[in-house]
Amino acid sequence: MIRIEGLTKRYGATLAVDSLSLELARGEFLVLLGSSGCGKTTTLKMINRLIEPTSGRVWIGGSDASVMAPHLLRRQVGYCFQAIGLFPHMTVAENIAVTPRLLDWEADRIRARTDELLEIVELEAASFRERMPAELSGGQQQRVGIARALAARPDVLLMDEPFGSLDPLTRDRLQRRLQSIQREFEISVVFVTHDMVEALVLGDRIAVMDAGRLVQIGSPRELLLDPAGPIVADLMETPRRQAEQVEALLEGEQTDEPV
Ligand SMILES: Nc1ncnc2c1ncn2[C@@H]1O[C@H](COP(=O)(O)OP(=O)(O)OP(=O)(O)O)[C@@H](O)[C@H]1O
Ligand SMILES: [Mg+2]
Repeated sequence: MIRIEGLTKRYGATLAVDSLSLELARGEFLVLLGSSGCGKTTTLKMINRLIEPTSGRVWIGGSDASVMAPHLLRRQVGYCFQAIGLFPHMTVAENIAVTPRLLDWEADRIRARTDELLEIVELEAASFRERMPAELSGGQQQRVGIARALAARPDVLLMDEPFGSLDPLTRDRLQRRLQSIQREFEISVVFVTHDMVEALVLGDRIAVMDAGRLVQIGSPRELLLDPAGPIVADLMETPRRQAEQVEALLEGEQTDEPV
């Protein structure tokens, strides 16, 4: 579904992304990991041409993204911004409807889809539809951003830390809902997170970047069992230690149980 070949972005002396190549199958969920500044957002933005690459190519569904008509690209690719990025002067409903409008959907269809999406992200349509972004909490704004990215049923979804502002329970529910929508419609997802448990739970494969380069790409199990080097090993250490600590707690509980 997505093929990236030698993708590179240079800002003066900084190589934000350095000769990145990878492929993503239809319906595959790829998590992008790496420390702050390693090039994750720049990579996502080059995939849907919010940033022009210095060199390299992106193919989406067999078409060269650099020559695709912008409206085709917008229809095929949904984007969830790291900093939310809702249009402040538009209502929640208008924000969600940006791409459907661009595609000339009928008003009734847009309204039905908007309400459906608000339910998916757990915002009551009647109460939220006409609000302005400034009247929402950070986590609610983030959920509107997710609804907007899903609006036109994209084949590809690019998500930059989409659940960062959500409480753990809402986050857990929305993770599962995203996963079921993604599987049902076979959406190809590139998902950036700093949360290792989220990465291990959601990713079919995980790509680890460092200083603009791809360090390792593989299944969660492959990265846990066979990290390519110290960067990946360090990343995998945290969830492993946490799992061991939880397990130790549970074992402790068992022995403490009254007879
Ligand atoms: N417009 C720009 N001009 C100059 N340098 C930039 C620009 N945008 C990004 N960079 C640099 O490119 C590198 C990669 O930035 P990017 O935003 O892709 O990082 P990231 O992996 O998304 O980090 P984070 O986890 O903090 O969001 C950084 O060193 C950043 O300072
Ligand atoms: Mg970023």
